[in-house]
Amino acid sequence: MVQVVHDPKAFRDACDQLRSQGERIGLVPTMGALHEGHLALIDEAKARGASRVVVTIFVNPKQFDRADDLAAYPRDLDTDLDACEARGVSLVFAPKDRAMYPEGYQTHVQVGALAEELEGEYRPGHFLGMTTIVAKLLILTGPCIAVFGRKDYQQWRIVDRMTRDLGLPVEIVGHPIVREPDGLALSSRNRLLTPEDRTRALAIARGLRAAAEAWQAGERSAETLTGLARAPIADAFDRIDYVKVIDPESLRAREGIVDRASIVVAAHLGSVRLIDNLELGVDPAPSV
Ligand code: PAF
Repeated sequence: MVQVVHDPKAFRDACDQLRSQGERIGLVPTMGALHEGHLALIDEAKARGASRVVVTIFVNPKQFDRADDLAAYPRDLDTDLDACEARGVSLVFAPKDRAMYPEGYQTHVQVGALAEELEGEYRPGHFLGMTTIVAKLLILTGPCIAVFGRKDYQQWRIVDRMTRDLGLPVEIVGHPIVREPDGLALSSRNRLLTPEDRTRALAIARGLRAAAEAWQAGERSAETLTGLARAPIADAFDRIDYVKVIDPESLRAREGIVDRASIVVAAHLGSVRLIDNLELGVDPAPSV
């Protein structure tokens, strides 16, 4: 079986040992409920030269802005461990909340402007919690590379900024979004969708596809692209937090004619909040 460690000190020792044996550690931080998207991150770490892949599974309470969202977040450690084992993961770190945030804990890592808008606006405190746990995991693990999914586009950009700003010696890799054949971006939260809402959720892929097709045909107006992406989502979803064309580096909303851009989406179906995005003007163009 894959080695599973729950205690931070034991985890640090295990990582130290791997490094002392000359292994290149690739880290895949997760909150569990693993799906093919996570498994693709494990593969990516290996493809980028990690001789050992370490997966962390921790539903980080500090990055949830709603108690009901934290309570509902899917948890299935045994199945996750089987998936890690089957994918050739060397070590899994699955700590308890108290181990990561012991009594008296009061240190946080905060990234500036990149974390202020989009998810930062709609989920207050989310990125503060996210960067804090990712910094802690990077420090504990000491990996050569760490792989994140680009479905959480803003998260990937923020983690990359944070590691550069703090001078952490790790390469941050953003892996392209993995989708179901019908276009739904893989997410642990998809498990919470009713069959009917699973069908309604496809409106995001339809909207992004419409924008991608227009882009391919030469459309460059941020307003037109936003409108195309938004229309099916507005029809199918209960509530939209945002559908925006943003600059892929600064993450600021764009207006007028754009050359390279990303469309980012966050919308609600009942109590389930889904996010997705599409990078435009990159080669090869991501498929939706
Ligand atoms: O993307 C996630 O699952 C989480 O935000 C992460 C990176 C594991 C930090 O808790």
